[in-house]
Amino acid sequence: MAYYDSIARQWHKTTGYRGGEFKRLVLNDVLLESIPDIDGRSILELGAGNGYFIPLVLRKYSGKIPARIVITDQSSKLIEIAQKNFSIETAEYRILNVARKFPFADENFDMILATMVFNEVPTGVLRKALTESSRVLANGGVFLITVTHPDFINSLRKRSLLKGSGKGVLTMPGAGGLRLPVVVRKVEVYRRVLEELGFKYEEKSIYPTQEVLNAKPGLRNAGNIPLALLFRCVK
Ligand SMILES: C[S@@+](CC[C@H](N)C(=O)[O-])C[C@H]1O[C@@H](n2cnc3c(N)ncnc32)[C@H](O)[C@@H]1O
Repeated sequence: MAYYDSIARQWHKTTGYRGGEFKRLVLNDVLLESIPDIDGRSILELGAGNGYFIPLVLRKYSGKIPARIVITDQSSKLIEIAQKNFSIETAEYRILNVARKFPFADENFDMILATMVFNEVPTGVLRKALTESSRVLANGGVFLITVTHPDFINSLRKRSLLKGSGKGVLTMPGAGGLRLPVVVRKVEVYRRVLEELGFKYEEKSIYPTQEVLNAKPGLRNAGNIPLALLFRCVK
């Protein structure tokens, strides 16, 4: 059973229709600004969670019609929740573990989204997932990868807030008292794998705003460090 199967309902209850406070107040807009035109394009989302994000993309680009939308996650329970709560009639909802070969032909997609998923998988899986993503992305396609910022994870580690789950998996505190899987990794590792695969990318560190800190006062204890890191990659 995927880890998120056991917390799927609570995850959806906690993060809701905008992905939680940080995404609602900051990250969603940063991602939406980074997305190229979707008209006639094929979009794949990896680790989509409850599937809240693609409806925001469709709303922003109202009237534009993607050729194909595939919303995936390793957790069958989250895919069910996504389908039930955010159902997009024309989208395909599929279970997909990024550790395995993706069930798509080469150069099938114009855009791939992966938000806060790769910081949860070991580096061997990260490498495989990025290799598969590169394979299924068309030349010139855009790959938006967001991870929990390594500096933030490191600050949790220094404050002894990372815990073993008993199955060799580290977890970090998440919204609503949830514990979320996390991997401690340097930013250089992400860069190296992207470079080895030939991606061109821009990086953006994303900080919590005052509004985020008011909504989540516990984040003040981390000091002035970024919460997320976005790689906007082009193949
Ligand atoms: C922190 S949640 C983020 C969900 C969503 N992208 C969002 O931003 O709200 C991490 C997601 O990655 C998924 N995930 C974790 N490991 C995965 C894997 N190996 N393959 C596919 N999805 C995975 C989880 O099931 C979960 O939905």
